[in-house]
Amino acid sequence: MSAQDNAAKVSKVSKAKKRREQRKRKIFELNHDPSTNSHKSKKELYLDFKDHQSYHPESYSDLPINIRKYWNQRYILFSKYDDGIFLDKESWYSVTPEPIALHVAKRCKNKVVIDAFCGSGGNTIQFALHCDKVFAIEIDPIKIKLAQRNAEIYNVQHKIEFINADYTQIAHKLKADIVYLSPPWGGVEYLKSSIFDLSMLAPIHGKDLFDLSFRITPNIIYFLPKNIDPKEIVQLSHKNFFEIELNYILNQLKGVTVYFNGCAKLDQIL
Ligand SMILES: C[S@@+](CC[C@H](N)C(=O)[O-])C[C@H]1O[C@@H](n2cnc3c(N)ncnc32)[C@H](O)[C@@H]1O
Repeated sequence: MSAQDNAAKVSKVSKAKKRREQRKRKIFELNHDPSTNSHKSKKELYLDFKDHQSYHPESYSDLPINIRKYWNQRYILFSKYDDGIFLDKESWYSVTPEPIALHVAKRCKNKVVIDAFCGSGGNTIQFALHCDKVFAIEIDPIKIKLAQRNAEIYNVQHKIEFINADYTQIAHKLKADIVYLSPPWGGVEYLKSSIFDLSMLAPIHGKDLFDLSFRITPNIIYFLPKNIDPKEIVQLSHKNFFEIELNYILNQLKGVTVYFNGCAKLDQIL
């Protein structure tokens, strides 16, 4: 090996070391409570979320056996995964992959967006990076804690108003330019039936969810399973203008995003 190769190798190693130290510092800051000037150890942090198995797995073997198959997707879910992203078990298969969330958020540039089902923050973070303001609603108090922590990792917490509530109960009080809907599809079970219909969505029938959101704004974005029956989307639209987009990650169809009214061809209509 030449002296030049050696120097390049040393510089690569020291850059990687520097990156690792930066990450450690960031995780330390996030785990530090300035009010008591105390620092939570990894064990204490884990205990905070213990009952819900929510933490930052640092290796494949940190994950419960039945979700280890998602480990390789961690950077697809959150490119800043190594900076200390926290996930619970369900989030590993329900977070919108970051490239899809980024793409949708870019289409909502400078708007006020309601993320009606924010989960642990996959879409909320990208909306916050590209939009004026995000109302992030989530019924599960643990998930909202995760989303808040994850938003801090992306430094976007100041753009988000987190609301721990049932969206269907508070929708009538909300105002925004766009409503984004990524309701639960029923876990990984949704693929068991060859055709998914809107009645299979939670917490209410997908059509009722659409109608409820339509009272806030006709500009709705709906993230649906890849096996959704397209006829249902046509019925749902009530002659409203819409655009369907198929969302692929590494040649795999992950879901379908439907943009209604002003969200379809946003530049020309909104
Ligand atoms: C598919 S996940 C959303 C994932 C999110 N888009 C992300 O990228 O992280 C659906 C979320 O809706 C939440 N949820 C279920 N019913 C709800 C309700 N009535 N109101 C608000 N959130 C609800 C679930 O707790 C779950 O976190």
